[in-house]
Amino acid sequence: MMMQSNTILITGGSSGLGLQMAKVFLERGNTVIICSRSAEKLRQAKLALPAVITYECDIANRVACEEMVAWLTRQYPLLNMLINNAAIVHKDDFVRGESMIEKLYQEVSTNFLAPVVLIKLLYPLLNRQANAHIINVTTGLVYIPRTVYPFYNSTKAALHAFTQVLRKQLKDSPVKVTEVLFPAVATPWHNGSPPSIAITPEKAIDEMVKKLEAGKDEIRVGKVKLLYILSRIVPAFAFRKLNAI
Ligand SMILES: NC(=O)c1ccc[n+]([C@@H]2O[C@H](COP(=O)([O-])OP(=O)(O)OC[C@H]3O[C@@H](n4cnc5c(N)ncnc54)[C@H](OP(=O)(O)O)[C@@H]3O)[C@@H](O)[C@H]2O)c1
Repeated sequence: MMMQSNTILITGGSSGLGLQMAKVFLERGNTVIICSRSAEKLRQAKLALPAVITYECDIANRVACEEMVAWLTRQYPLLNMLINNAAIVHKDDFVRGESMIEKLYQEVSTNFLAPVVLIKLLYPLLNRQANAHIINVTTGLVYIPRTVYPFYNSTKAALHAFTQVLRKQLKDSPVKVTEVLFPAVATPWHNGSPPSIAITPEKAIDEMVKKLEAGKDEIRVGKVKLLYILSRIVPAFAFRKLNAI
């Protein structure tokens, strides 16, 4: 993959892994557009990375996605890379938790429907570019679910399966499809208490970028490589171990 002179949209680029991706891609001479819901997070991101272009958008809202794509098509007709990174998670008890149906709809809309909608809406633009690339961000939990998350594992497993289908269906198209599966990373995602095994966003994005350069289709970052193997050989052990963390 060519790592410079791209025009890139990173959803959820105002925080954590998306923000670190924005930093690294800007340093390498790319045009980087980030979107997220919070104007304040976007303002902070712009303070940290003055060259970044920001756009306020709730990707769980289909009309907002359509408006963002119309804006991108007008303002950035050379957009050649979509990184579907934004996601949310609820740690809850499915039966006893409050507003669980509302949380279900929020998570499915943000983590699965929105990336698929954005791919569909942006495909005509991406398909016109020479070096077009769709990157979907998932997690090692697509292999083994963590039981504290009632919906998150399923939303990412759905995106994992969709990404495999899309890669196959686009095999003769100029648009490359990559999935990046992250392990636990110390970002605001963990509300100030990341698990002890969490790696830094710098380390996670460094590995991602090296493997993008090498042209890998499925990038298993850090311990996701081990989880993948364990999930194939000793799934019950992997399930117990993962859920004991
Ligand atoms: N951190 C980890 O341990 C870990 C592990 C494996 C995979 N991942 C994956 O890595 C990705 C990034 O996670 P992170 O750790 O960087 O989390 P984060 O720091 O919480 O960042 C999430 C980003 O998504 C944005 N976002 C959430 N809902 C949105 C919506 N409806 N519309 C637009 N933007 C939205 C947030 O901004 P607003 O709040 O302003 O909308 C924020 O910029 C996610 O896909 C996550 O599943 C993370």
